[in-house]
Amino acid sequence: MNRRNFIKSGAALTALAFFYPEKILGGAKVMAAENLKWWQKSIVYQIYPKSFQDTTGSGTGDLNGITQHLDYLKKLGVGAIWLTPIYPSPQVDNGYDISDYTAINPDFGTMKDFEKLVAEADKRGIKIVMDLVFNHSSDKHEWFLESKKNRTNPKADWYIWKDAKPDGSAPTNWRCFFGGGVWTWCEERQQYYMHTFAKEQPDLNWENPEVRQALFDAAKFWLDKGVGGFRIDAIPYIKKPAYVDGTPDGKDGMVAVHKMTVNTPGILDFLHEFKDKVFAGHDIFTVGEANGVSPEELKYWIGEQGVFDMIFEFSHVLLPLKNGEVFCRPTEWKLTELKQAISESQAATKNNGWYPMYFENHDRPRSPNYFFKKDADKVKAAKALATILLTMRGTPFIYEGQELGMTNIDWDSIEMYNDIGSHTQFDFALNEGFTVAQAMDFIKFFSRDNARTPMQWNDKTNAGFSSGKTWLPVNDNFKTLNAAAEEKNSDSVLNWYRKLAKFRAENIELTHGDYKLILPSSEEIFAFSRSVDGKTLITAVNFTSENVALPLELSNKKIVLSSEENADKNSLKPLEARIYK
Ligand code: GLC
Repeated sequence: MNRRNFIKSGAALTALAFFYPEKILGGAKVMAAENLKWWQKSIVYQIYPKSFQDTTGSGTGDLNGITQHLDYLKKLGVGAIWLTPIYPSPQVDNGYDISDYTAINPDFGTMKDFEKLVAEADKRGIKIVMDLVFNHSSDKHEWFLESKKNRTNPKADWYIWKDAKPDGSAPTNWRCFFGGGVWTWCEERQQYYMHTFAKEQPDLNWENPEVRQALFDAAKFWLDKGVGGFRIDAIPYIKKPAYVDGTPDGKDGMVAVHKMTVNTPGILDFLHEFKDKVFAGHDIFTVGEANGVSPEELKYWIGEQGVFDMIFEFSHVLLPLKNGEVFCRPTEWKLTELKQAISESQAATKNNGWYPMYFENHDRPRSPNYFFKKDADKVKAAKALATILLTMRGTPFIYEGQELGMTNIDWDSIEMYNDIGSHTQFDFALNEGFTVAQAMDFIKFFSRDNARTPMQWNDKTNAGFSSGKTWLPVNDNFKTLNAAAEEKNSDSVLNWYRKLAKFRAENIELTHGDYKLILPSSEEIFAFSRSVDGKTLITAVNFTSENVALPLELSNKKIVLSSEENADKNSLKPLEARIYK
């Protein structure tokens, strides 16, 4: 499936970034090191604070727990930390339902703890990046509590309210991401309100200038606290189209909301206002979670004339999932498709923009499980992906625990799962006629809880994450898979990450070099070069669990790094990753 179809299927997304200054030297194009922004040369580490480190015994991670591990992150070469939402929240969607945009969730600590985190991180050259969730708030936010009272209060128009159809039914047949329709009836107002996600996450009305200003003020509040950037959540949904029914795509007679509302014309006006009033002139970076932006549209979204520095695109991470259906399930995919997805994003951002490279985040399963066959060696698989991540053009994003090669959980009952999306997907699959066992298999494969279990620091109680009852169970494999054990093992995933991070910092090809795909039609090897100023590095990764012979164009090159001891110049060992000069 090419990128266009991918986008049409509603699955896609796209990436990137910043105007990339270059100069011409001796006829060859040379990217000038001094012209890269700090965040283009940084590694970003994403923290899910709830699961990182608990310092109080509450069973939930906290800000002081993050501060405690700053030296660990420094050693990993991290230059910025993206915190998933740390604001007060009823936690229906684990913080993506915010009830106060300018305060700290007391479960995570205090504003003082936050200020200390920023200051301590700063001492180590690390910036803190906040997650802005501006498409919707929590239904417990005081704005919504007021808005729902009646049709005449000062915030009556801050959310999206509509009358029922003449027969009393909901205004449209759009299905929300987290179960049922996007419309929920409100007794007080005798009207429906709209929610793209759960009913506890009402959509804000961006058409109202007061709403926009309130959101911009919230972002500015965090800029004043010295944050180094923003990740902007679910941004392509803020502009709503005409409220008309769509062609049903499921047995429930509804159509997925994103098919109707993504990137509605006019959205860029809102976004430019956001940029002008909030980001412009600050030495920060912005990365939008912007599903469905095509390569052709990218120039309006990123770079100098666009809005953000980068946008997260999903084309490569959605490959293992069958899309365009009401629910998700695993599907066959080819290595050439993965290479194509990443290469298209590279091409689209070659001259304008910057690419945020990632394989994991809090919405995706663990990558060694997700991108490889069930019986593949997970340590080798983790190192293989690490090598692509840290040698690709763009800013690498590491998700907590990825640097340890943390793997999926294997919970048999849906009751064990906390993630609202997993419950929704489970119900969808049953409604569409799948058995409980089949639905459970799907959930095990892609549940967001796979990535949300507590960090595995050591082999002690609760993996050293907490002395209390943890909010989500620790993965059973923590006795052997943990940071303390990996620290001591020179061959661990953690030490491979550190080695690659150091190598990246020392080799200008990896920050500044052009990207070129090598062996494009191979279904076994992912290889690409990074070149600048006449210097070239080549990455080659074997995605199979067999030995794979190398073509001459690689076997005659000098190996500078390999994930395997005694690398053979004529072949790659199973899942081997190496770098050539
Ligand atoms: C984004 C977040 C996801 C959340 C959703 C609703 O996709 O990454 O975790 O559930 O938005 O805010």
